[in-house]
Amino acid sequence: MLQKFDVIVIGAGAAGLMCAAQAAARGRSVLVLDHANKAGKKILMSGGGRCNFTNYFVAPDKYLSHNPHFCKSALKRYTQWDFIALVERYGVAYHEKKDGQLFCDNKASDILNLLLSECEQQGVQIRLDTPVSAVAQCTQQGCRYQLRGGGVWLGCESLVVASGGPSIPTLGATGFGYELAQQFGLNVYAPRAGLVPFTLTDHNKQLSESLSGSALNVDVACAGQSFRDDMLFTHRGLSGPAMLQISSYWQAGQSLNINLLPDHEVAGLLRQQQHERPKLSLKNWLAELTTQKFAEKWLASSAWQQSTLAQLSGADMDVIAQSLHEWQVKPAGTEGYRTAEVALGGVDTDELSSKTMEVQRFPGLFFIGEVVDVTGHLGGFNFQWAWSSAVAAAEFV
Ligand code: FDA
Repeated sequence: MLQKFDVIVIGAGAAGLMCAAQAAARGRSVLVLDHANKAGKKILMSGGGRCNFTNYFVAPDKYLSHNPHFCKSALKRYTQWDFIALVERYGVAYHEKKDGQLFCDNKASDILNLLLSECEQQGVQIRLDTPVSAVAQCTQQGCRYQLRGGGVWLGCESLVVASGGPSIPTLGATGFGYELAQQFGLNVYAPRAGLVPFTLTDHNKQLSESLSGSALNVDVACAGQSFRDDMLFTHRGLSGPAMLQISSYWQAGQSLNINLLPDHEVAGLLRQQQHERPKLSLKNWLAELTTQKFAEKWLASSAWQQSTLAQLSGADMDVIAQSLHEWQVKPAGTEGYRTAEVALGGVDTDELSSKTMEVQRFPGLFFIGEVVDVTGHLGGFNFQWAWSSAVAAAEFV
């Protein structure tokens, strides 16, 4: 015997809960299944525990996808303003941290509780600790898909896959959605870790290690993209928002070009300071623009460690300027899914309708959220994609 629902959603995360609540509000009977023992674990961990739930400046160019146009329709129909209105309706206090990034004043659980409350009000059933297996098409009347969830046979007219990506497996993340897509013969772009710190193994590793915990505001460029934000030196390499952002564009083997002093024109400044403060040591001059620790470690293995500005030749100053404006770093790799905020790649958007998120070849089968090949920049864009793609599907399930 099949237990039948109008809609079954696999994944009680950001996209799954949003879709379930909205579909149930249309009068559909909705069941959400999750193998984890708690709903929305990534929401709770997000934004350092404060959930950066959206951004004032959501736009298609903040997303990576093999089809950059795909996200436009959903983002336009359920916008950041719609989600902000929902947050305000629940009286969740929030603030803009920087660059339009909106965070909860209190805890990320405010956002999860909002979603769970929406689900409860609309009569959504949520079954946790429920692994899903044996997903197949169904031939019974009123049932297009059947699956086994927690040892019970379940059937539905619409099956929504909202099982996310494989980043942070300790939170229950899996590649289940990709495998399911492949089972139905859909193309899946190979996933890889995004918004992730870099690891170093060459001479720069020692420098990073010695500066571990220090941060600089930098401009980093790679693969035709650049980001201006903070960079953090770590024991294993480089992290911080600037590095996380560029990591989504970086491919193995490529070098990062890092401008460590983007607000200054070092060659000109050095010449001017040489004239005005000739006795100043290069180290103290650099410390004024960065930190004492950075200046010491950066110059530690250079020929100018003890130099005063007066002792520098024009050629020296040009080399120093170049080394600070164009620091070349070739990462050995990234920290991978262990710490990545997202997985790039996923279900090929050519397989889906951008209006409904439904698989073109399999009516009633939908993919939403991170499992789809749409990945946002850091700053609340990934949750906005979860909300927008969820609402797009909810109107048609
Ligand atoms: P999500 O991962 O939220 O949910 C998927 C659900 O499916 C999970 O509950 C999982 O247990 C379940 N599942 C997986 N496999 C299953 C299976 N086989 N059977 C049943 N259930 C299964 N984004 C942002 O915009 N702002 C932010 O502040 C942050 N911060 C952040 C911090 C950290 C540490 C991480 C790891 C990620 C972020 N993100 C973020 C990214 C954001 O969390 C992510 O984009 C969304 O959670 C994606 O929502 P989904 O609903 O698609 O997947």
